[in-house]
Amino acid sequence: MTDAIPQLLSHDEAALDQAFATLEAQVRAEAATLTTAEAQENFRLHWLGRKQGRLKLISEAWLKSAPAEARKPLGIRFNQLKQQIEQALEVQAGAPKTAVAGIDITLPGLVREPGIEHPLLKAMHEIVAVFHNLGYSTNLGPQVETDFYNFEALNFPPNHPARDTQDTLLVADQQKKPSRDRLLMRTHTSPVQIRTMVAQAPPVRIVIPGKVHRNDAADATHSPIFHQVEGLCVDTNITFSDLKGTLDHAMKALFGSAVKTRFFPSFFPFTEPSADVQISCIFCGGKGCRKCKHSGWIELLGCGMVDPAVFAAVTSERRKTDPADDAYNPEKISGFAFGMGVERIAMIQHGISDIGHFYSGDMRFLEQFA
Ligand code: DAH
Repeated sequence: MTDAIPQLLSHDEAALDQAFATLEAQVRAEAATLTTAEAQENFRLHWLGRKQGRLKLISEAWLKSAPAEARKPLGIRFNQLKQQIEQALEVQAGAPKTAVAGIDITLPGLVREPGIEHPLLKAMHEIVAVFHNLGYSTNLGPQVETDFYNFEALNFPPNHPARDTQDTLLVADQQKKPSRDRLLMRTHTSPVQIRTMVAQAPPVRIVIPGKVHRNDAADATHSPIFHQVEGLCVDTNITFSDLKGTLDHAMKALFGSAVKTRFFPSFFPFTEPSADVQISCIFCGGKGCRKCKHSGWIELLGCGMVDPAVFAAVTSERRKTDPADDAYNPEKISGFAFGMGVERIAMIQHGISDIGHFYSGDMRFLEQFA
């Protein structure tokens, strides 16, 4: 590369043209040899470097000795030269650099792996999709909930022992508030049933995927933060048979058409009657194995017919804005609800034995779902 600072012998137009033509020729010659990224960078530093760049040094030297009237024509020419250098760099940056000495084109390229859905989100989306195909839509709600939505409106009165089944994480310093406004981390997605019905008259067909929190110690099957998908259907003439048919279809869609379902009496404050749903063991086909504790069945979700007390709580909320509201009169409408744990379903689908794998971020685990 040319390093010496050329002399500028005169400042008339012809001398300036001549001097800059020489510099431009140098730039052109050097630019033609830029085949590697390293050479390009050296070229850039050599000409445009902020302290020792050639353009800087030459313009300093030439402008200093120039009479006032030559400054402008000099400035214009330096700008043009700078543009020429920048253009040369742009052209080189866009040019393919193949088969050039110093580059081994037989080396493997840098592979950018496509991202995949996390197995938990994948299971959650699969569950939601089954219900979307039945005409359900999705609703979401807050993770920090009030006592009213998480418990009271769902027919867990204050101090009722049913609250003990949900090891609740309470937000601190709420004692001064009325009990219905106290904040907590939602223990289930069921509060969004209430939020939906307060906002919308029947017919309602919604699924509610989301994160829930409980004061549970982490072990192979428990985590203080986990995920649920809730469902709610309210309309005229909804019966327990509709509930059974819907969930039987959903389980077959998720686990294969050979899967059978059965319903056991259970208790939830917000449904009456309530049931636990079991599916025939997908590992042994119902014969009995270690995974199903030799029963042939795996318990998967809770469900039931919406309790009239829940409709009553919804109605009193709705009457705050419309005193004549009668949309959720249990004499006219009925509904069913269900709730399932996403981790549990994903663990059964993929034979995963430790819930902790979902949260560890271990690529060896996650890559298996690519
Ligand atoms: N919310 C219940 C829980 O977290 C699950 C559940 C059971 C939801 C029955 C429902 C239902 O909607 O009908 O344990």
